[in-house]
Amino acid sequence: MPVLQNPAAGNIVLSEKGENLITMKDWRINSTHEHYLIQPIDLLNEQTICECFAHIGSPYMVAMEEPRSYGEIIGNLLSENALLPFGTAVCEIGGGYGSLMRGLLESYGDRVRHVLMVDLSSSLMKRQCRILKNWEEKISFVKGDAREIIRAFRTIDVIICNEVAGDLETWTGLDPANLPEAVKEKVDRYELSIPSRGEFNFNMGAIDIVEKICKIGAKAFIAEHSSDPIIPEEMAFLARDLVLDGYPREIRLKGHSEYTIRFEHLVKTANCCGRKVRTGSLADLAGLQNKARMRSIFVGRMAGSEEHEILYELLDHIREYRWMLIL
Ligand SMILES: C[S@@+](CC[C@H](N)C(=O)[O-])C[C@H]1O[C@@H](n2cnc3c(N)ncnc32)[C@H](O)[C@@H]1O
Repeated sequence: MPVLQNPAAGNIVLSEKGENLITMKDWRINSTHEHYLIQPIDLLNEQTICECFAHIGSPYMVAMEEPRSYGEIIGNLLSENALLPFGTAVCEIGGGYGSLMRGLLESYGDRVRHVLMVDLSSSLMKRQCRILKNWEEKISFVKGDAREIIRAFRTIDVIICNEVAGDLETWTGLDPANLPEAVKEKVDRYELSIPSRGEFNFNMGAIDIVEKICKIGAKAFIAEHSSDPIIPEEMAFLARDLVLDGYPREIRLKGHSEYTIRFEHLVKTANCCGRKVRTGSLADLAGLQNKARMRSIFVGRMAGSEEHEILYELLDHIREYRWMLIL
């Protein structure tokens, strides 16, 4: 019997007469598109690393060797990789509250010629406008789906996409022996690894955005929860009970779910599109202080003081995060 592949409903099996016999809802597409489009958004339910390190007065700064805002950390990384020369045009996709861009402009504003903020959410875009008021003459805001409008970004030098990849379409409940054609095409083209058996999830939207970034010739910084995290050598204790070579996992949040990202897939996609990539762990990039102290707090699950609780919670969160630069 023929099997029709329907992205929204899964596979539909038809009888020989063409009647719809069974709907096997064996795979689905997760997307947070409607969530961000319709609702007023409160990111405090999500504890993004960007918000933890939004400014140097944040209580999470106790974790850092040298307190720096998240935007400054990203600015330093871009600058060290020669991606932020004077006159750079930067685009941030899904800038949330605008904290990353504020930190970046506070430290490297003189290098940035123009900023384009692209977001699905009107309420978040209003907050970005307010927080970035000091730089309003060089910022434009576009409300829309980055995946649809990215083709128009040809004058952009660097794209920043922080904690957005996991919101894009993830195809879930896939059977490795019976892949939908669109997934098979990506797996074959980029030689992506998939499990030999058992259901798995696939970051179709994140792969698509990497392809589009490569196509317009921009450089990019992408960071997200990963399903194949990198653990810094001197913080090997963070690997406890963590899957280091897994496939996207659901993270249930208020009103929506997002998925962790298999960075190996994004790296291979960018490489096959002719681009070099650098990748690492966010715990390393942030420059966490006193590794021995962190170890005793994490391994001993120490929660004796408010500071210990903050550090334990942060370590447990940040260890899954990975970043990559598309060069
Ligand atoms: C989890 S929040 C991350 C916010 C911020 N980057 C941070 O790290 O705190 C996801 C952000 O991406 C936006 N977003 C999600 N999907 C998008 C899409 N397809 N195009 C543009 N923006 C999107 C949301 O509105 C929101 O601003």
